[in-house]
Amino acid sequence: MSKSILVTGGAGFIGSHVIRRLVNRYPNYKIINLDLLTYAGNLENLADVDQASNYNFVKGDIADISFINELFQKYEITDVIHLAAESHVDRSITDPFAFARTNVMGTLSLLNAAKQSWKENYDDHLFYHVSTDEVYGSLGDEGLFVETTPYDPNSPYSASKASSDHFVRAFGHTYGMKYCISNCSNNYGPNQFPEKLIPLVINNIVNEKPLPVYGDGLNVRDWLYVEDHADAIDLIFHHGANHETYNIGGNNEMTNIGLVHMLCDILDEKYNRPQGTARQLITFVKDRPGHDQRYAIDSSKIQRDLGWEPSLLVEEGMRKTVDWYLSHEAWLQNVTSGTYQSFYERQYGSV
Ligand code: NAD
Ligand code: DAU
Repeated sequence: MSKSILVTGGAGFIGSHVIRRLVNRYPNYKIINLDLLTYAGNLENLADVDQASNYNFVKGDIADISFINELFQKYEITDVIHLAAESHVDRSITDPFAFARTNVMGTLSLLNAAKQSWKENYDDHLFYHVSTDEVYGSLGDEGLFVETTPYDPNSPYSASKASSDHFVRAFGHTYGMKYCISNCSNNYGPNQFPEKLIPLVINNIVNEKPLPVYGDGLNVRDWLYVEDHADAIDLIFHHGANHETYNIGGNNEMTNIGLVHMLCDILDEKYNRPQGTARQLITFVKDRPGHDQRYAIDSSKIQRDLGWEPSLLVEEGMRKTVDWYLSHEAWLQNVTSGTYQSFYERQYGSV
């Protein structure tokens, strides 16, 4: 069936991989990429598909209610894959209002437009909301997040994402809207903005700058290669069960310091220099306030029900990622010029 799919946040990191996949795999779908092009959105990420006949880009704000209503009419939107968000935890600590506006009000504005436009007849329409494992809070040494783990968000970012998940469920429960939600672990790979740990560390090693590790570096994250996330999103969009949640994770738990060591060693190897050279740049800095200790996902539901599993082990994925950043120097330079510098100084001071 032909669809007109609104993908929000398609110029960002994960969104650009999702758009590329949908545009290339489904020529009979119309893909409408709605993105405000904040500091995190970059149309360069989509240069290879921007001329495709089944692709349209629209610049706009998901929280602008009347604009979103008009957009649904103009493009006769049949389905939504919602990724647009403020996504960086550190920024949420300095400016929580921006997160409430985009992540909560923006999601509500999309739900409202979908409800109006689909006239409460949801048979052929799906609202797919892309969310995070951070809504579940923090784990101790043992255990994994499952779909029924109670919500316990700790940062303004995760609180705003939890709230958006609740609104999606409320629209399903109250108005009967068809929806799926997925909660994914930490993504990495090409096109990630270098405020996040992995591209920040790669960029700083390249530029011989200190590598800021928060606290004792023993916090644990579960890393998933971004293409594997895009693959899971595609599967859930097409085969996910109505009103279901799916956890997506990489089975790749690592401490932050272990991950930084791995990146240092890969780059030393690339530069053909003694192992240990890049590690000298590691600098332990003040911890993130309220820093969650450990995230880890049990993705057995999506594996069992939809046959998905991550395709890359972490070392292979990190090598691909490092290669991508080393061969996209201009991309890195473009996104780290201008306002990135003032963000960096505010966040890291003289480190
Ligand atoms: P990102 O910050 O790289 O991209 C976000 C995109 O949203 C940008 O292109 C930005 O311009 C756009 N945007 C921001 N505010 C907007 C607004 N008001 N209107 C329209 N567009 C707006 O984020 P990402 O890492 O690609 O994450 C995408 C989604 O996946 C988010 O919802 C995030 O919560 C979720 N997620 C991310 C991860 C991760 O590790 N990165 C893991 C799990 C879930
Ligand atoms: O778990 C999914 C989430 O993963 C997504 O929902 C978020 O959008 C995404 O940003 C990510 O959140 P994290 O806070 O885990 O990612 P970040 O890359 O900011 O940090 C990863 C870990 O590294 C975390 O424990 C904090 C630490 N860190 C981060 C930065 C930027 C450092 O030690 N130093 C740093 O400079």
